[in-house]
Amino acid sequence: MKSAEVTRVERTFRDDELIVSKTDPKGRITYCNDVFLSISGFREAELLGQPHNIIRHPDMPRTIFKLLWETLEQGREIFAYVVNRCKNGDHYWVLAHVAPDRGPDGTVTGFHSNRRTPDPAALEVIRPLYARLLAEETRHGDRKAGLEAGFAMLQALLADKGLSYDQFVLGL
Ligand SMILES: Cc1cc2nc3c(=O)[nH]c(=O)nc-3n(C[C@H](O)[C@H](O)[C@H](O)COP(=O)(O)O)c2cc1C
Repeated sequence: MKSAEVTRVERTFRDDELIVSKTDPKGRITYCNDVFLSISGFREAELLGQPHNIIRHPDMPRTIFKLLWETLEQGREIFAYVVNRCKNGDHYWVLAHVAPDRGPDGTVTGFHSNRRTPDPAALEVIRPLYARLLAEETRHGDRKAGLEAGFAMLQALLADKGLSYDQFVLGL
């Protein structure tokens, strides 16, 4: 199945469950827990060693992943709402906490993500926001210009609210 093929069927997980994965410094999956396997529909062997975009859903704006990677590359943690694609094209929403892992000498050895089921009220804000960002990104013929325009739209929205990205996400 191509990544663009989606069913529009939503899957959910419980408040007391956490979806966990770890990656190497390039974002290739090195670990995923049973909740991850169960909701995504992949077998462990299909995920290990693969780039994490194997579960990328086409509804996700690239702006959010740009922010994610820029934040991680600065050695910082990030919280983000993400919709992910299951193997069969279904999807599930998460609130992810993604952070660097460090070795004894402080160098970044990889990253991990712990994901909780999101508050439905937060998704009422995030769904239309992501749709707007995606529309802005795709409105431009040029990929790079589209990403810059999406990023500028997010920054303008945050400036308008007088909030940092973290304050916005964690305040939802
Ligand atoms: C620890 C970690 C966890 C990640 N989790 C996800 C995820 O759950 N879903 C996702 O689409 N991308 C996730 N990513 C981001 C992907 O590496 C990638 O940037 C994203 O899927 C966009 O892919 P693309 O650049 O090919 O469009 C994660 C990255 C890291 C480092």
